[in-house]
Amino acid sequence: MAAATEAGSRGADAAIIDGRAHADALGDRIAAQARDFAGRTGRAPGLAVVLVGTDPASEVYVRSKGRMARKLGMESFEHVLPETVSQSDLMALIGRLNADETVDGILVQLPLPGGLDSLAVIEAIDPGKDVDGLHPINAGYLASGLPGLVSCTPYGCLMLLRDSLGDLSGLDAIVVGRSILVGKPMAQLLLAANCTVTMAHSRTKGLAAKVGQADIVVAAVGAAEMIRGDWIKPGATVIDVGTSRVERDGRMRLVGDVDFAGARRRARAITPVPGGVGPMTIMTLMHNTLIAAHRRAGLPAPDLG
Ligand code: GUN
Repeated sequence: MAAATEAGSRGADAAIIDGRAHADALGDRIAAQARDFAGRTGRAPGLAVVLVGTDPASEVYVRSKGRMARKLGMESFEHVLPETVSQSDLMALIGRLNADETVDGILVQLPLPGGLDSLAVIEAIDPGKDVDGLHPINAGYLASGLPGLVSCTPYGCLMLLRDSLGDLSGLDAIVVGRSILVGKPMAQLLLAANCTVTMAHSRTKGLAAKVGQADIVVAAVGAAEMIRGDWIKPGATVIDVGTSRVERDGRMRLVGDVDFAGARRRARAITPVPGGVGPMTIMTLMHNTLIAAHRRAGLPAPDLG
């Protein structure tokens, strides 16, 4: 468990939760397990990433996912389709990837260009290859406490919380944001870890007071520094999923959903933006691909912590 002091109650700054270091350590364990998998099955775990269109941010994400897969000894299959692709051609590609024995994980980069039905595409993915954990079957497994594939970002947040706090049982947690990508699965994971969970969203009344009662704050709304530092309960642990580009002093900067400087004066530990949740998201995608590969090969899934 990472050392973090009760900063808020003692006047010291919060410890920084170093997502990059945690992701690097997890990556080393994944690479070792990927080698072991290849030794046993004669092939590397395979991840297929599908990008539709030319959104520059999505292109960067997709490229970095492919690079990371190869770095960890996995096979990477990248499929780039034009923005004009039809729903049926996209569904046909998903069908081919489902049937491809060398593909263990399928990720369709979101958001899809307007006119394409994302839910239909997600539902077409074989749930055993749904390394994003977005298929309703995997969301249902998570809600039912059954083993499935869990969304990458919330899973990474849970790993950081466990590393920082150890046992989460009995802690009051608030998740701000209710997306299917982060907020909803995050709340389910915290509940499964025996937290008492509040889910807050755009219609929540008295958000400041609710945040002020939480031992754990997970902010995933995508609104720059919306959660003020003086809302944070002294001694709380803060996980900031947001990334917004804002102009400060004539320069573009990346900031989270939480006022970092203010929250750091009260929290016991906090993730920075960048360098907190972001590096964990890509590594949990690699983790899920490794788990999916083992399950598909009939091998016990390795415990990577
Ligand atoms: N776009 C932004 N984050 C994600 C993610 O976690 N998964 C997918 N598929 N698309 C994204």
